[in-house]
Amino acid sequence: MKALVSGGAGFIGSHLVDALVERGDQVTVVDDLSTGRRENLETPTGRRAELVEVDVTDAAAIADTFERRGPELVFHLAAQIDVRRSVTDPVFDLNVNVGGTLNLLEAARTTGARGFLLASTGGAVYGEGAGLALPLDESAACRPDAPYGQSKFAAEGYASLFGRLYGLRATALRLGNVYGPRQDPLGEAGVVAIFCGALLTDGTPRVFGDGHQTRDYIYVGDVVEAFLAAGASEASGTYNVGTGVETSVLELGELIGGVCERPFEPELAPARAGEVQRIAIDSSRAAADFGWSARTALVDGLRTTAASFATAS
Ligand SMILES: NC(=O)c1ccc[n+]([C@@H]2O[C@H](COP(=O)([O-])OP(=O)(O)OC[C@H]3O[C@@H](n4cnc5c(N)ncnc54)[C@H](O)[C@@H]3O)[C@@H](O)[C@H]2O)c1
Repeated sequence: MKALVSGGAGFIGSHLVDALVERGDQVTVVDDLSTGRRENLETPTGRRAELVEVDVTDAAAIADTFERRGPELVFHLAAQIDVRRSVTDPVFDLNVNVGGTLNLLEAARTTGARGFLLASTGGAVYGEGAGLALPLDESAACRPDAPYGQSKFAAEGYASLFGRLYGLRATALRLGNVYGPRQDPLGEAGVVAIFCGALLTDGTPRVFGDGHQTRDYIYVGDVVEAFLAAGASEASGTYNVGTGVETSVLELGELIGGVCERPFEPELAPARAGEVQRIAIDSSRAAADFGWSARTALVDGLRTTAASFATAS
């Protein structure tokens, strides 16, 4: 199978590239290396993918890459992922997350791709979950609290439109807060990388707000399995990809302290704008339609993640 992974030099994308190469796909990575790293592709499997250094907002370069490589399956993960930057520079966020998605959708349908999978976000499209019956399923209203969630929601809308207009099979996976080896502190589950870094270097982790804010933390290996399962099925539409379990920042810190064998003694800082108080997402639909559910217990995933940070530092 010919696969194309945009954002394949990034955290989640590079794990997906490893898995696709491992199963024998011919993989093209499209990435401008703005937050992604070439080293993420320097694994024995990652090296077998072809990296094309292109910005997804460059329509002509994207069209040319698709014409040359003719991918059958497109995994679109390249994005502006920084929630705070989306608040300070919403137009940039829009151009990358919506404009970039449209460029890939256009290229995918004109070159006859048979499937398009978009990385969306269950942590940011729904908005505030406090006061709602958690975990939320896909029928919940989407009221993003930051431009990042809004641009991802708009990108989902275009993917779905290309299904109706052109018959392109488009699937949006609304990921929970993804953590694991290679993760960057800027991402939605950046707190895991930050806490691991602080605890492993005997620094003091900082908690914004009261620490009782919750997220649905999902291991990157489980997310890769969701992309593979959705890609191999005939499923289209929108799917949550999470555990359904809420974990507070303080509980997360305690767990990471446990696996790092360090006491978790954070300093408290003021809460930050644009961040929700509570969220967790229900993935029953993914289980029913393509047989996926999360398999990695949080403490096990954190142990693997902390070990990878300890080796890297
Ligand atoms: N990490 C999470 O918790 C999380 C949660 C929900 C959704 N997502 C989504 O998953 C995807 C991957 O996120 P990640 O955490 O791996 O982040 P990441 O920053 O590691 O990966 C994003 C990749 O896209 C590339 N990129 C950014 N702008 C680009 C552009 N204009 N042109 C080409 N490449 C560009 C970056 O260089 C990077 O390699 C994103 O779409 C993100 O919105 C992530």
